[in-house]
Amino acid sequence: MTNTCSIKLFFATGNIHKLNEVKPIAERYGICLEQMIESRAKVEIQSSDLIEIARYAVLENYKLFKKPVLVEDAGLFIEALNGFPGPYSSYVYKTIGVNGILKLMEGVDNRRAYFMSVAAIVYEPFFIIETARVEGVITKEPRGSGGFGFDPIFVPRSSKKTFAEMSIDEKNMYSHRAKAVSKAFSKLVHLLKTYNTL
Ligand code: IMP
Repeated sequence: MTNTCSIKLFFATGNIHKLNEVKPIAERYGICLEQMIESRAKVEIQSSDLIEIARYAVLENYKLFKKPVLVEDAGLFIEALNGFPGPYSSYVYKTIGVNGILKLMEGVDNRRAYFMSVAAIVYEPFFIIETARVEGVITKEPRGSGGFGFDPIFVPRSSKKTFAEMSIDEKNMYSHRAKAVSKAFSKLVHLLKTYNTL
């Protein structure tokens, strides 16, 4: 790992929270992230597979902008709801939201859930795709005001706080996203070193 910025990547996301989470991690790998507001990649494929969604989005963005690009796609999978909302997390968040999920979970004892993240990078000639998850539980009530999405109702294993009660650094110690992008950045740096382009 290095502290200087020797690699530039465009992060295709409209989500400023994601950018704020991923930027400090990228810097540890000598990677400078610049936000690229998605345009074509906004048209997501209808797929029940987060990996397919991320693969499609990163390739579409690369075709369109011809710049080294990072895409990160995530979802919340709740055991008692057979993995719902999973790949439909964004739509479910926008429609029924945190309170809708809590309502679906009323009277449900099994609160186990996980977040899964897929990080995909195109950095010619390399294509990298990495996944990670964080196990935890769904709370009975929302707690905390930080973060975004389902953060107020998710407590990662071995913590007592919801993601929304944590600082970005704390969330990054546990999160699906931090793990997936770290794996992807590590692989990118390794490939660039191996092929003498760094
Ligand atoms: P996206 O497609 O990666 O933007 O994620 C889909 C949805 O999952 C988002 O709209 C959020 O509601 C939820 N989500 C993804 N990652 C997180 C997270 O780190 N915390 C809370 N909710 C998340």
